[in-house]
Formats: sequence, C-alpha cells, structure tokens
Amino acid sequence: MWSLVAALLLGTVCGGSAQLTFNSTRFVEETICNETVILPCIVNNLEIKNIKVMYVKWKHRGKEIFTFDGDQNKPNASDNFKSATIALSLLVEGNASLLMKKSDAVPGNYTCEVTESSREGETTVELRYHVVSWFYPKENILIVIFPILAILLSWGQFGIVTLKYKSNCTSEKTIGLIIAGLALTVMVIVGAVLFVPGEYSVKNASGLGLIVIPTVTLVLLQYCVFMTAFGMTLFAIGILILQLLGYVLAVIGLSLCITKCSPTQGPLMISGLGIIALAELLGLVYMKFVASNQKTIPPSRKAVEEPLNE
Ligand SMILES: *[C@@H]1O[C@H](CO)[C@@H](O)[C@H](O)[C@H]1NC(C)=O
Ligand SMILES: *[C@@H]1O[C@H](CO)[C@@H](O)[C@H](O)[C@H]1NC(C)=O
Ligand SMILES: *[C@@H]1O[C@H](CO)[C@@H](O)[C@H](O)[C@H]1NC(C)=O
Ligand SMILES: *[C@@H]1O[C@H](CO)[C@@H](O)[C@H](O)[C@H]1NC(C)=O
Ligand SMILES: *[C@@H]1O[C@H](CO)[C@@H](O)[C@H](O)[C@H]1NC(C)=O
Repeated sequence: MWSLVAALLLGTVCGGSAQLTFNSTRFVEETICNETVILPCIVNNLEIKNIKVMYVKWKHRGKEIFTFDGDQNKPNASDNFKSATIALSLLVEGNASLLMKKSDAVPGNYTCEVTESSREGETTVELRYHVVSWFYPKENILIVIFPILAILLSWGQFGIVTLKYKSNCTSEKTIGLIIAGLALTVMVIVGAVLFVPGEYSVKNASGLGLIVIPTVTLVLLQYCVFMTAFGMTLFAIGILILQLLGYVLAVIGLSLCITKCSPTQGPLMISGLGIIALAELLGLVYMKFVASNQKTIPPSRKAVEEPLNE
C-alpha cells in the first residue's frame, strides 16, 4: 500500500508534469529613473513550497550571476552583480524575481533557472534600456522660448527708453541697464545650451536653473525702464506685480522639478515663465502707447525735471 503511494508520488514528481512552468515576461524596460531594477521570474506550479528543496540560478550571457541554494540558505552574487538579490520570503510562492541596483543592471537577456527538488525549468527575460527625456519635447521648447522672448521684449523696452526718453536717461542708468541686460542674456543663453533635450542629468538641471532663476532681472529692468520713462503708474505697478507673480510660480515649479528624474510640475514652471513673458509684452505695448501719446510734446521739454505723465 505505502509503496504504491510512494510510487504514485514519485510518478508525479518525476513524470510528465515534472517541468516547472513560468508566467513569462518577454522583456522589461529600465530608464535613467529606475534606482533598482526588477527582473521578473514567476513560477506558477510549485508543489512542495519548501525553500529547503529549492535552488535558483540567474544567468546573463551564459554566465552565472546569482545563485541561491535553499538547502544552505545561501545567496551568492557574482562580482559584477554584487547588488543582485531575491526576496527570500516570496520565493516559496514561486517569485524568484531578481532585484539589483541600476548600476549593475546591464541590458541584455537574463535567464532564470528554478529547481524544486527534482523538477526544474527556466525562463528568459530581456532587460532593455529606454531613453526618456527629462521634460516632454513641447515643454523643452516652451522652457527656452518664453525667457528668450521676454529678453527680446526687454531689449525692445530698452530701445524705446533710450530713443523716446533720451532726456531721462543718464549715461550711468543706460550703462547699468545694458550691463544687467547683457548679463541676463548671457546666463539664459548658457542655460539654454546646457539644457539640451535629453535624459535627466546634473548638466541639464544646472541649465534649467540658469534659465529660470536670473529671470528676476527682467522685473528689475522693467521697473527701471518704467521709472525712467514715466514713473510709476497704476498700470505699471499692475504689470510688475503680474511679472513678480510669474517669477514666484516659475521658481516654485523649478524647485519641484529640479531634483525629480520624472518631473510633474513642469506646467507650473512653464506657466510662470509664460506670465513673465506676457508681463514683458504688456510693458512694451504700454510703453509704446504712452510714448506715442507723448509724441506731440516738443523736444524742448528736455530740461523739465518733473515726470512727463503729469
Ligand atoms: C500567472 O498566470 C496565471 C494565468 O496564466 C494567473 O492566473 C496567475 O495569477 C499568474 N500568477 C502570477 C503570480 O502572476
Ligand atoms: C523602472 O521603473 C518603472 C517605473 O517605476 C517600472 O514600471 C519598471 O518596471 C522599472 N523597470 C525595471 C526593469 O525594474
Ligand atoms: C559564488 O559564485 C562564484 C561564481 O559565481 C563561485 O566562484 C563561488 O564559489 C560561489 N561561492 C559560494 C560560497 O558558493
Ligand atoms: C515578485 O517580487 C518582486 C520583488 O522581489 C515584486 O516586485 C513583484 O511584484 C513580485 N511579483 C509578484 C507577481 O508577486
Ligand atoms: C535577447 O533574446 C531575444 C530573443 O531570443 C533576441 O531577439 C534579442 O536580440 C536578445 N537581446 C540581446 C540584447 O541579446
């Protein structure tokens, strides 16, 4: 009787159903944003469910990179894959997925071999590297376009001030504006060059910082230009407040994006940059408007000290 049971058991263990089968995954993708990489290996027909009779072997390009001997309870990772490990608590349920640090995870085909007593099986999963851009292409364009547009408009305002309000422009003021404008222009151009579209990197992040942070200069420049041209009016104050608000939004957005490999607050930062450019445009239009209304004022008023809008 017992021998029959033993024979039956042996039959099941060594017979036709002896192979372990897997819920196989053809490939998984890693990006620059994965800190750890998981290669799935899921056995779906374990029977004994005892870690003592299990043996797991992971191979990469035919070389053993990780083994786990259940009997000795010993994981062993090879030198090139030092961080490789499996979750021992999940192994008895058939989960022999390999975890490793991204730095160890070379793309390619990995084979997972699992043995349970005398049954065994293997499955292969391909690890692919997928390049992901830090920001979306459209976001990249807007991040560069808005500040550059704002700077061009700012130079336009400077042009109006020096042409139409010559009398109010002392040479110190003009030189100060030129230096501040040039410094801003150079920083944003350098930032835009560093901020080439691509994967998240320190270079990219510093480029973004160089584009966004110095735009506060635009608020100061616009303030100086307004003061030189016609002093503060309610409308001018409104424009400056709007621009400052844009800057605050842009900097908050920047601080939420700059350390994130896959940022979600790009739109916030971009709206801030857009508002900065819009305020610059409003300022330019307003100046043109005020300047053209003052066309009739004869040049002989040059010497008059009081602000022109009174
Ligand atoms: C494996 O696949 C089967 C169906 O093919 C499914 O029922 C089962 O939940 C899967 N197991 C795991 C661990 O994903
Ligand atoms: C990398 O991370 C993504 C998102 O967190 C995840 O879906 C993917 O499975 C990870 N890739 C690997 C190979 O672990
Ligand atoms: C660990 O694996 C390496 C090869 O991958 C082998 O040379 C070494 O003997 C193994 N160590 C143990 C303790 O099994
Ligand atoms: C298998 O284990 C890994 C961690 O080792 C886990 O991320 C994954 O979700 C598990 N898969 C299943 C189907 O339980
Ligand atoms: C992995 O194996 C698949 C199927 O055999 C093959 O198409 C693919 O090119 C291999 N990948 C690498 C990186 O060798």
